[in-house]
Amino acid sequence: MARLGVNVDHVATLRQARRGEDPSPILAALTAEQAGCDGIVCHLREDRRHIQDRDLAAFKEILRTPLNLEMAIDPEIVRIACRLKPAQATLVPERRRELTTEGGLDLRRGRARFSRAICRLKDAGIRVSLFVDPDPSQVERAAELGVPMVELHTGRYAQARSRSHIAEALSGLEEAARLASGAGLRVAAGHGLDYRNVSRVVEIREIEEFNIGFSIVARAIEVGFHQAVREMARLVRGEP
Ligand code: PXP
Repeated sequence: MARLGVNVDHVATLRQARRGEDPSPILAALTAEQAGCDGIVCHLREDRRHIQDRDLAAFKEILRTPLNLEMAIDPEIVRIACRLKPAQATLVPERRRELTTEGGLDLRRGRARFSRAICRLKDAGIRVSLFVDPDPSQVERAAELGVPMVELHTGRYAQARSRSHIAEALSGLEEAARLASGAGLRVAAGHGLDYRNVSRVVEIREIEEFNIGFSIVARAIEVGFHQAVREMARLVRGEP
């Protein structure tokens, strides 16, 4: 049965729109835990556009489920992560002007920088995952870097509209998940997954964890955050 990590960045995005206290990503994370999620995910961006440093300290103190910190390999952010020691760090590419994380890491370049960041995080006792496109060459490079886990970028699948594009994107995910699993890597997936499209990815048995944010926060406006998390947890676990 797969696990659900709830990304609360978009709760913080709403809070930052007025620079106040509400809505609180901390309360949202606690509600997500009460609703049965398996972990909390957040991204500390270099521009601090949503999650703030003080949120991380509160997560660390209050959460009962593992915290998965998405981060770029920026030295300042690596330092913060090593101090905070979340259960997991997922390395993602970051461009200041992007709306959201637009693609996976390109592990063909800057190998030494990745290695250094991975070593520092590992030494701090943090499990490291690499966010990559479902591209066999990227999965192979992730395995070479000695991390225990990859997260496959599901954005292309989520954006596909025609049946043939959906089928093609799904088989790419399946192939990448098999390759990763065969190389001894644990496999997560995320980006753009929603209540309509997640179930077909859940069928890929090698994927053990789904990290989902935007669609849950959007659904919460209609049914409340607790219910939105419950519904997604059921889908991710393949429950009726
Ligand atoms: N996984 C990673 C690595 C991400 O960067 C994001 C977006 O922050 C997600 C999962 C969640 O994507 P979404 O908000 O589209 O569900």
